[in-house]
Amino acid sequence: MLLVRLAALVLSIHAASADLGKAVLFANGLKEPLRKLDDITRVATTKTGPKNLDTNSICKTLARQAGCTDDQVTGKEVWYADCDKPWALCRCSDANMSFDTMERRWAKVPVGLRSYGGTLLAVKRDSGCVAYTFGGEYIRFHGDCGSSVFIHEVSHTVDKGFSSTAAFKDGVAKSSCVPDSYANTNYVEDFAQLNVCLTWALRFGVLSDAAGKDAACMAPQYNLLKSDARIKAAQSATQCIPCVRNNCKTRGIDDDEEINTHNITMTQTSMCEFPAAGEDD
Ligand SMILES: *[C@@H]1O[C@H](CO)[C@@H](O)[C@H](O)[C@H]1NC(C)=O
Ligand SMILES: *[C@@H]1O[C@H](CO)[C@@H](O)[C@H](O)[C@H]1NC(C)=O
Repeated sequence: MLLVRLAALVLSIHAASADLGKAVLFANGLKEPLRKLDDITRVATTKTGPKNLDTNSICKTLARQAGCTDDQVTGKEVWYADCDKPWALCRCSDANMSFDTMERRWAKVPVGLRSYGGTLLAVKRDSGCVAYTFGGEYIRFHGDCGSSVFIHEVSHTVDKGFSSTAAFKDGVAKSSCVPDSYANTNYVEDFAQLNVCLTWALRFGVLSDAAGKDAACMAPQYNLLKSDARIKAAQSATQCIPCVRNNCKTRGIDDDEEINTHNITMTQTSMCEFPAAGEDD
């Protein structure tokens, strides 16, 4: 049932995504030109502990869908210096990313953005990286996924319907370009790539310089993110923002403990494929 629903959703995403048809600012994707994202200082881990996983836990459910059996999945809780709440990390025993790698790459995601993200799961992939976001909150990484992918996926959790507003679509209509060809996939991917650009620009420089051409072509949509109070807060926070996750909206707390898949709608909100392998830690 769940798989059928997911399959239908994937089809509908593709059917509805008949390409935004825009020119692109970055001809070869964001990874190389915005490589400095990998240099974001990571916050220190203050504490870790094992996490027991119920059969119906998010991790086991998402792992099963990726062909990983329950007994292969283990969990860990990580507390970072910028938040009093932990995040749960899970991995399948043959996942390419170790717990340490996941912990370090997640630690580079700016805390206000990270606040929107829930449990992470890593599974194996032969080459490169594919990542999916479920329920607007849970992220499954296949393969070796770099910090720019972590930031792209967390951007889906920050979206919260922004990319489907008339205002955003109008901003896209008024723009003559989108960040890259992946952003052209649909409004959801465009939003995520714009937020990756914004994350870079707020810390490292001017997009036109990185692109080698004028970024004004995407200003109408980009400026909507840049001037949005909620996104601004997420980009500039120095401590985690309480209760911005879907989980918290329904439960009143920011914790994954005892959350199980009977209680949430596990819709896949995006699927992103990245040919390149992960970055340094
Ligand atoms: C993941 O690990 C497997 C071995 O378990 C290896 O064959 C594969 O190339 C790795 N994938 C990546 C993306 O490094
Ligand atoms: C979540 O599901 C479990 C098991 O199906 C149930 O016992 C629990 O009451 C549910 N929690 C909420 C908040 O609905």
